[in-house]
Amino acid sequence: MLGKAQGLPADQVFCDLEDSVAPGAKQAARANVVAALNEGDWTGRTRVVRVNDLTTRWTYRDVIEVVEGAGANLDCVMLPKAQSAAQVAWLDLLLTQIEKVLGFEVGRIGIEAQIETALGLSNVREIAFASPRIETIIFGPADFMASINMPSLTVGALSPDYPGDPFHYVLFKILETARARGVQAIDGPFLQIRDTEGFRATAARSAALGFDGKWVLHPGQIEAANEIYAPRQADYDHAELIMDAYAWHTSAEGGLTGAVMLGDEMIDEASRKMAEVVAGKGRAAGL
Ligand code: GLV
Ligand code: MG
Repeated sequence: MLGKAQGLPADQVFCDLEDSVAPGAKQAARANVVAALNEGDWTGRTRVVRVNDLTTRWTYRDVIEVVEGAGANLDCVMLPKAQSAAQVAWLDLLLTQIEKVLGFEVGRIGIEAQIETALGLSNVREIAFASPRIETIIFGPADFMASINMPSLTVGALSPDYPGDPFHYVLFKILETARARGVQAIDGPFLQIRDTEGFRATAARSAALGFDGKWVLHPGQIEAANEIYAPRQADYDHAELIMDAYAWHTSAEGGLTGAVMLGDEMIDEASRKMAEVVAGKGRAAGL
């Protein structure tokens, strides 16, 4: 898997030491991950390692062994089941010490915080602001469903017994916090790896809110994710049109008007900002 991941069109790869690794294999996994980071070709991808959460006994050794062994080839450490600002501060301080010892720029290695417990969601704001290293807030639906006692066994699926989207609140709270902090909001995994339609439907919901992306667990999910988190071509084209029209009308040549008409649509500075979001996502996706 570590070898195969290097050739796939994903924006980020995270090597896992947490829940996909059996307790008896935790130690060997650290060495595998260090070797993969140092010897693999990860060009163009954000390189991340997910360590074990701080209720276990593995976390500190995970961080020390991975960052000492492969810190030069690592962009972020992912902290799963982040529960409090204190946990993030702990990781920040440990990273600072290791960076100093290794002679790295202090603060270069970022932190991605996974929100996947009731306590983590309660404290998401403090977690997001706990360190300048925070780059991403991630929703972890599987652990979160277990944490709040949601009686479902299918991650991310809507329930026939609930009239609405049971994940709307958590997704929106994470998104709002990430935007307030100015960092990325990322949706978590969809475990039914052969159910492409289910993946697409779940991804479409967080993409519609404004999430930046979603985990993929299998190569078969990558194409759908890349498509769904990019704007539709027609929306991208329209966004560029709004930006051009607004730029012209607010220039001296265009008459320095504030609100202007574009066809039947009145556009103003707020329209420009909305268009900028869609155009930015489209340009990033190469539309
Ligand atoms: C991911 O870690 C999840 O629990 O959904
Ligand atoms: Mg989890």
